[in-house]
Amino acid sequence: MRIYIKTYGCQMNERDSEALAGMLAARGHQLTAAEEEADVLLFNTCSVREQAERKAVGKVGFMKKLKQRNPDLLIGILGCMAQRRGEELFHELPHLDFVLGTGQLHTLPDLLEQLAEERKRIVEVAESSAVLTGMGCHYLTPGSCTAQIAITRGCNRFCAYCIVPYVRGREISRDHDDVVREARELAEAGIREILLLGQNVAAYGLGGNINPPPPGVSPFADLLEELAKIDGIRRIRFTSPYVSYFNDRLIRAIAATPKVCRNIHLPLQSGSNRILRAMNRQYTAESYLETVEKLQAAMPEITFSTDVIVGFPGEEESDFNATRELMERVGFDNAFIFKYSPRPGTRAAALDDQVPQSVKEERNQLLLADLAARTHRHLRALVGTEQAVLVEGVSKRMQERWSGRTDGNRTVHFLPIDGLKAGDVVPVRILRAGNVSLFGEIVRSEQN
Ligand code: SAH
Ligand code: SF4
Ligand code: F3S
Repeated sequence: MRIYIKTYGCQMNERDSEALAGMLAARGHQLTAAEEEADVLLFNTCSVREQAERKAVGKVGFMKKLKQRNPDLLIGILGCMAQRRGEELFHELPHLDFVLGTGQLHTLPDLLEQLAEERKRIVEVAESSAVLTGMGCHYLTPGSCTAQIAITRGCNRFCAYCIVPYVRGREISRDHDDVVREARELAEAGIREILLLGQNVAAYGLGGNINPPPPGVSPFADLLEELAKIDGIRRIRFTSPYVSYFNDRLIRAIAATPKVCRNIHLPLQSGSNRILRAMNRQYTAESYLETVEKLQAAMPEITFSTDVIVGFPGEEESDFNATRELMERVGFDNAFIFKYSPRPGTRAAALDDQVPQSVKEERNQLLLADLAARTHRHLRALVGTEQAVLVEGVSKRMQERWSGRTDGNRTVHFLPIDGLKAGDVVPVRILRAGNVSLFGEIVRSEQN
């Protein structure tokens, strides 16, 4: 069958879709990017904000015309919204054939075979740990040098605003050896950079306990050290860690492992202690900053990016200003700023001091303007420096140039040299800063 997959939401969903593509290809199916050509349309959905759900429902609704033209077409909704809304989706989308939740994704190839034999509506939303071991397959695009590995699934933290623990189920960690084996296979297939994924990656291997481990213990640190021993792997990134899990063991392990990139995505959410408490985040502005400073002391070149929510219920001007100040103080290199979106069934959705949309919009704009100014400053500061760049290939926007990323995750455009290939790490002198990326020249050739 020819299969089209559209993915909404976070990197975890991107990775799930990629694993599904790999599993389907292994069963002899073909992936297609053209929805009109497909026999099966799959929508891997996100529930984190209302807008994400609305977009997916709108898109699937629009697919009705394809189904009218081709009644044999199979349409399925997968992932987080499938898990949250289940059977109810059939009422809104009568042309839908199946709904497959986050715990059952690994059953997709069998489910499609079953539907090819006998048409019926199917809803599978049971939680299952088999999905943990059943989603290790990859579908790498030729020439790609980066791959993602999911090391945990689910979340036990129940931040007051967040739907993820409800739609992704309880937190479970992959087996250490299983992750290392997957990384080795990827390295053999030419992958040079791995991105470890989990809702709270630094809680890896702690059995779902929501209390951070004692100072000397960090199975995540053990994993990083083991992965760094794999020859072909040049860089290791991870997203997202929860700040409270950065104990001395983890900080020391990262500092002593140069393959772990010195750019950490460290979700802050708010800089106000009152709001952090209401969000059920287990840290304060002070303890967050303390961890940042420890990481900076161990690795002076380190940079941070973050996630922030504006307009959480009860957020006053003074809370917002605390967020703004903390963001400036840490000097985040990049930030994803979200307007709070009430999610049905979460604790915060039931609070009555909801912030008006216009205020959320205004705060969002202020943080975006701060961020743009800071990004520009940071990029300019890199002009004149020499950066190790992991080459990704021909630049998407400029055919004559190639692009790659620095250890700090900045995109650099440069003219290629003979023999250059994706996956090489080359020294690049930065000549100029654009609005969001850098321009430079290769200093000398150095094959990986
Ligand atoms: N597990 C990650 C976050 C996953 S969700 C962590 O804890 O860091 C990605 C981001 O979406 C969150 O960091 C948060 O900033 C944002 N988010 C989650 N729920 C939201 C909501 N209801 N409204 C707006 N933003 C939300
Ligand atoms: Fe959501 Fe909090 Fe879990 Fe992140 S840690 S997925 S924000 S509940
Ligand atoms: Fe990710 Fe959205 Fe699900 S952020 S975990 S795809 S709800």
